[in-house]
Amino acid sequence: MLRNEEVKVDIFQKKITDLVGENYVYASVLYYFGIKFYDYSEKTLEEVCAEKGINIQHLKENLESAVKSGDEYDLQLIAYPVDLVIEYLKHTHHIFVKQQLPYLARLIENLEINKTRYRQVAEDLKFVFPLFVEDFIHHIYEEEDSLFTHIIAMYKAIYVNGNPSQIFFKLDELSIEKCAGEHEIHDDEMKGIREITRNYFLSADADLHIRVVFAELQCFEENLIKHAKIENEILFPKALMLEREAIKLIQEKLRFN
Ligand SMILES: [Fe+2]
Ligand SMILES: [Fe+2]
Repeated sequence: MLRNEEVKVDIFQKKITDLVGENYVYASVLYYFGIKFYDYSEKTLEEVCAEKGINIQHLKENLESAVKSGDEYDLQLIAYPVDLVIEYLKHTHHIFVKQQLPYLARLIENLEINKTRYRQVAEDLKFVFPLFVEDFIHHIYEEEDSLFTHIIAMYKAIYVNGNPSQIFFKLDELSIEKCAGEHEIHDDEMKGIREITRNYFLSADADLHIRVVFAELQCFEENLIKHAKIENEILFPKALMLEREAIKLIQEKLRFN
């Protein structure tokens, strides 16, 4: 038998619970294919795909690429103009709100209090997680509506139409330095969740569902840290420079009028 056929047979015949136990990232891929791992834990991948009419080869490719995917390209962002950095950040917001948070919310909602040894943690998460999501979404929309819009307006005023008069009042109202300071203070959004989960501590006998929840929460926190780092270290410095240039441009215009 060819080696790749062996691998193929292997993954297709695996039970969902074993697959997810091997790598928690698989649970999220299965979720996007409409398979909640905790509902099909004792079935093989092949059985579930047949039952739900899923193209097993396509699913396998997605499982493989989810494990491989890296994020090195983020480093290139520093060389991008600010409008592209903002597009990237908005795209990440979208992924958080439309994919990662709904997935986490479903995972937590479906934790069965009576089946887990982490009963108290599960109850606390069920209560706190929706509040965290609400706060987080508020942060994102405020950022997009106020800060990002202002940065784009400064960028256009300087580089597109050379007319800073439209941003004259906004420049006075919204200080980038102040925003940057406030943003760093509110950086630790998942502190409460870390406390509830005792820093995602799991005992050796923890069940698979709670393991997946902790792994996904931890992964989400890492994504948030990376996201905030791009905002703090790339976006705000670029915005500060734009602000200085916009003020200089206004002062020059005033001098010539
Ligand atoms: Fe953000
Ligand atoms: Fe932010």
